[in-house]
Order: sequence, then structure tokens, then C-alpha cells
Amino acid sequence: MRIDILTVVPELLASPLNESILKRAQEKGLVEIHIHNIRDYTEDKHRTTDDYPFGGEAGMVMKIEPIYRCIEALKAEREYDEVIYTSPDGIRYDQHEANRLSTLDNLIILCGHYKGIDYRIREHLVTREISIGDYVLTGGELAACIIADSVIRIIPGAIGDEASALTDCFQDNLLAPPVYTRPAEFNGWKVPDVLLSGNFARIDRWKEEQAWERTKRLRPDLLKEE
Ligand code: ADE
Repeated sequence: MRIDILTVVPELLASPLNESILKRAQEKGLVEIHIHNIRDYTEDKHRTTDDYPFGGEAGMVMKIEPIYRCIEALKAEREYDEVIYTSPDGIRYDQHEANRLSTLDNLIILCGHYKGIDYRIREHLVTREISIGDYVLTGGELAACIIADSVIRIIPGAIGDEASALTDCFQDNLLAPPVYTRPAEFNGWKVPDVLLSGNFARIDRWKEEQAWERTKRLRPDLLKEE
């Protein structure tokens, strides 16, 4: 898989995408991440990426030309499955969408900024608008990191224990069961006996019950989804 991220603040992206599991996934050749500075696609002396909005609202809007040039330059090299735009008014991001994106080959993620981007980019070039939640960030870079992180970690081979991506929270619309490690008792606080029993059928049953109980209690909305 290849992910191209377009931003005016590349510094915000480099470090979170180059550590730990994401770093190893790139080293293993499972994913290539390319960060593009939209400013490199400007043609004026001041390398301007934003301008005042028509109609006189407050705030600045990202200009169409540099973004267009950057996306077209990438598309000239290969086909993209999705051109994603991160925005609080996009569809709400969830595990189903992460799973779907992880099966694709080439993604562009365009990070929004200021009041947004010239809407013609959204009308003509963007294929998917994604929000990571109902709150407004200063820019789409952190949202792009969240999307890239959640997609890459479920690419087969990205995490050491492949089974563990499948037992994540949300994979079956259920929260994950509690996990414990040694010592079996700390400060008088005990690990549930069943986990020490060695009876794996019982342990699996317990985990399933816990997942249901926690979901019902903490996120009943998940059980109502299709
Ligand atoms: N940019 C600003 N806020 C955002 C959000 N909630 N989701 C995605 N991109 C954003």
C-alpha cells in the first residue's frame, strides 16, 4: 500500500508516522508513506497557499491551484483508489472504514486547514470526506495521522501477533475484553481466576461474555448498528 499525504505543515506528520509499528511496517515494505508540502506546488514568489474567501467571510481558504497541481502530479504516476479529504463535516470515521481502506493500494489524504479548501477541490477531485469526530481541530494533519495509523496497523504483517488486530475493539462492533499480565496479584488486586485456569474453552467464553457486558454497559450504541 502507498499513502500520499498533502499538507501545508509537513512537520506535524513526519514524527508520528515514523515510529514504532508504523516505522516497522514501512521497513518491512508493507506500506510507503509520502508526505508532500503543498507549498512546493505554488508558483508565486511568496509561495501562497491560502487566500480570502469570496463573499467576505472571516478566515482564509486554501487555494485551488497548488492542491490541484499536487494531486494531478501524483495521479500522473499511478491510479489512486481514494482521494480522502479530512474535515469535520466528512463522514464519521470508524473501524469499518479503516478495514475498507486497508484493502486498497493507493490513497491520497489531503489535510484541510484554516476555514477549509476551495470547494471545487471537494467537488471535482476528492472521493471521500472523513471526519474523525464531532469536534474541530486546527487542521487535518492529526486526523490524517489517525487514519494512516488505524489503516496500517491492520495490514497483515504490520503487528507481530496478527491475531491481535482481529480481536481489537470494534472489530465485531464489540469492545475488547479486559487484559491482564503478571503478577497475578498486586497490592491485593487479583487477576480473574478463570484466566489462570488453563481451560481455554472457559477462557474464550469468559472473554466473549466480558466483551458483550462491556459493550452493553459502555457503548450500547454499537449493538444497534447493522
Ligand atoms: N479537521 C479539523 N477537524 C477535523 C475533524 N474533526 N476530523 C477530520 N479533520 C478535521
